[in-house]
Amino acid sequence: MFGLVNKGLEDMVCSQYGEATWTEIKSKAEVQIEAFISMDAYPDEITYRLVDATSAVIKMPTTDVLEAFGKYWLLFTAAEGFGSLMAMAGDNFPEFLQNLDNLHARMGLSFPELQPPSFLCSHLETASLKLHYYSERPGLTPMVVGMLKGLGEKFDTDVNIQLTASKAQGSDHQELSIAHKPKCPFKQFLHQNNN
Ligand code: HEM
Repeated sequence: MFGLVNKGLEDMVCSQYGEATWTEIKSKAEVQIEAFISMDAYPDEITYRLVDATSAVIKMPTTDVLEAFGKYWLLFTAAEGFGSLMAMAGDNFPEFLQNLDNLHARMGLSFPELQPPSFLCSHLETASLKLHYYSERPGLTPMVVGMLKGLGEKFDTDVNIQLTASKAQGSDHQELSIAHKPKCPFKQFLHQNNN
C-alpha cells in the first residue's frame, strides 16, 4: 500500500504511545524502512506486519487496531492535505458513502498505482442503506467500520453497522447494513449551508 497508509499508522501510534513504541513495533515487524514516503507504493505485507506487531506491542486485538486506525485515518488524511478531497465527497453521511469510489478515483490522479477498494450503496432509504465493500485485500473490514464510525462523528450522525454478508460466508464481497440518523437535523442543515 502507499506509504501514506503506513505513515498514518505510525502517526496514530506515535501520538498515542510515543515514538519508542513505534520503534519497537517496526523492530517486531522486521521493517527496516527508516521513513515511509507517502507517494511510494510498498508491499501490502509491510502494512499487515506493522498492524500485527502494533497489536502485539500495545496488547490490543488486531481488529481493534484496524478499527482505531480507520477512525484516525480521517483526521490524518485531512491533516496531510486531503481535506478538500473529503469536502468534495459530500455534505452528509449517506451522500459521502455514495462518493467513496469518486474520492479514491480522484486520489488515483495523484497516485497512479493506487489499488483502491470499491464501494457500492444499495437499498437507500431515508435512515438506512447497504454498503457493499469490494477489495482484493483480506481482513480490512474493521478498518472500514472505524472509518464509518469516524464519518458518523464528522457528520454528527449516529450510525449502527452490521456485517450482513461476508467473503467468509461465501459472498464475493462484504456487505454492511447501516442505520444512520443525524443527531441534530437542524445542525446538519446549518453545516450543509455553511460549506
Ligand atoms: C480523504 C480521505 C481518503 C483518502 C485520501 C484515501 C486514500 C486511500 C489510499 C491512499 C489508500 C491505499 C490504497 C493503495 O495503497 O493502493 C486507501 C485505501 C483504503 N481506503 Fe481510502 N481514502 C480516504 C477515505 C476513505 C474512506 C472514508 C473509506 C471508507 C469508509 C476508505 C476506505 C479504504 C479502504 C478500506 C482501504 C484499504 C484498501 C482495500 O480495502 O483494498 N477510504 N485509501
